[in-house]
Amino acid sequence: MSADINSRHGLNPAHSEVIEAGEIIAPCNALDMGCSNGRNALYLSQLGFNVTALDNNHDAINMLRQIISEEGIDNIEARVYDINDAELSDDYGLIACTVTLMFLNPPRVDAVIENMQSHTLPGGYNLIVCAMDTNEHPCPVPFPFTLKAGQLRDAYDGWELVKYNEDVGTMHNGAQLQFATMLARKPSK
Ligand SMILES: C[S@@+](CC[C@H](N)C(=O)[O-])C[C@H]1O[C@@H](n2cnc3c(N)ncnc32)[C@H](O)[C@@H]1O
Repeated sequence: MSADINSRHGLNPAHSEVIEAGEIIAPCNALDMGCSNGRNALYLSQLGFNVTALDNNHDAINMLRQIISEEGIDNIEARVYDINDAELSDDYGLIACTVTLMFLNPPRVDAVIENMQSHTLPGGYNLIVCAMDTNEHPCPVPFPFTLKAGQLRDAYDGWELVKYNEDVGTMHNGAQLQFATMLARKPSK
């Protein structure tokens, strides 16, 4: 169903890690940080999540709002928001931030992660996928921010790491790009 809605609007399928997370996390209030035009938000909404979708790109949010309106979707709220502000106001069972951290202002990333963590409900999840820059695999793309080896794991000390890897992938041009991929669960109180 989600693939239909995404392809109907010219969007890629949801990120594979979002699909995987959707298989183990029960529908809840979810936040999609850096939603672009909504491939992941639309997927989660089809699974029954109530999704808040945030991006600082006005055109992307307007496109997602158009899709929401055309499809009569009542469980996505799409808003313009600068993640660098680290000023979330609500709490969520799932916060997803896929391939977005690396576009943030580097001095703000710690505050952004702390803000995500403090606005995750007990027993809730954070899903992060972010490019890395390590001695073994220097990042070939000039992203403003990249993670160092172990940096994301260390930031989630005390959380259950349901999934964590720092795998290396090969881009279309043959360059190697290392990503940290993490699904972490906050301790229940
Ligand atoms: C590569 S896209 C990833 C989109 C989506 N998360 C996905 O998995 O397809 C990165 C997104 O982050 C958004 N973004 C970059 N910096 C941002 C910021 N400071 N605040 C909010 N969104 C931001 C961009 O506008 C873009 O939509």
